[in-house]
Amino acid sequence: MSRTAPGVIIAGTGSYTPSRIVTNEELSTSVETSDEWISSRTGIRERRLADDGEVTSTMGAKAGKAAMESANLKPEQIDLIVVATLSPDMTFPSTASLIQHQLGLRMVTSFDISAACSGFIYALEVVSNMMRSGAYHHALVIGSEKISPILDWSDRGTCVLFGDGAGAVVLTKTEDITCGVIDSYTGNDGSRPELLCLPGGGSAIPTSMESLAHREHYLKMNGREIFKIAVRWMEQSAIIMLERHGLSPEDISLIIPHQANLRIIDALARSIKIPREKFFVNLDRYGNTSAASIPIALHEARQKDCIQSGDYVLLVAFGAGLTWGSTLIKWH
Ligand code: UT7
Repeated sequence: MSRTAPGVIIAGTGSYTPSRIVTNEELSTSVETSDEWISSRTGIRERRLADDGEVTSTMGAKAGKAAMESANLKPEQIDLIVVATLSPDMTFPSTASLIQHQLGLRMVTSFDISAACSGFIYALEVVSNMMRSGAYHHALVIGSEKISPILDWSDRGTCVLFGDGAGAVVLTKTEDITCGVIDSYTGNDGSRPELLCLPGGGSAIPTSMESLAHREHYLKMNGREIFKIAVRWMEQSAIIMLERHGLSPEDISLIIPHQANLRIIDALARSIKIPREKFFVNLDRYGNTSAASIPIALHEARQKDCIQSGDYVLLVAFGAGLTWGSTLIKWH
């Protein structure tokens, strides 16, 4: 695919995860579960949980600060901030708006993206295209989640899966159109919202004594159905990106999938025929951090020198909506 618009590279990455580690063993003292069940069905061994003083904006700000430092940029050089989250500090104003102030950014365009676990992929698509067509030079894109307060800790089918944390990247416009965020693909099937949702607290089911009694303020999920759909749409998202650019599985150096379940990642590897060793996995230590999972993993992959100049890196996600998507990056 030929492009004449400016290129957009990932100039810096950062992450922040809370210090409190909760192992499967520890969870099994308060929930009817076991390390054996969680690790064999999901690959998760532990997750980080934020304490009362940490919220989505403060964790996102820490990840964002680290990303700015890694890009050697000062807060006043950022001219756009976008946050992907399903667990904002409050319904409004946006978490991006709160982080803008916490980081001392200028009064720049700031907004949130609601695409659940695919939120970071959606944000990369929106922001890179805004940068190509607009006057933005440096953008901060953050995925941040404090999911623990919206989990039903009496529902073992969901509470063992998730964790809190934040990851961030700085996107920078460049004249070099051969590298950076090459392309993205996103999609959504809105026909089955009930498969993964938080029903209460919105305009459909406002918070009331009744909604609280029915536990509508907690995340609900049909895990089995989501599993099947996740594999199908992650596969499609990856294949579409390879086909659009005439790439074969061998051309991809690293694939960073949404970190939800190791069995989903194994099934994806088999179906798209990219060797499992090329998949970056850290869900054993963090669980599913939703929109934060890919930027946290991307930052760790860079720290571990898993990405070299010229590498094709493929990001793939799915989430509530149901949303899905992929981003193809050629590392600068
Ligand atoms: O970012 C998107 C977020 N969502 C996902 O990625 C979820 C995708 N789905 C999954 O990862 C899997 O479906 C789960 C990990 C959620 C569940 O694994 P599964 O192999 O599909 O198990 P299941 O739901 O079919 O449940 C099997 C059994 C059930 O018992 P019975 O009915 O067979 O007696 C559950 O009650 O496992 C039981 N179970 C548990 N047992 C111990 C469910 N959760 C637990 C638990 N500990 N935590």
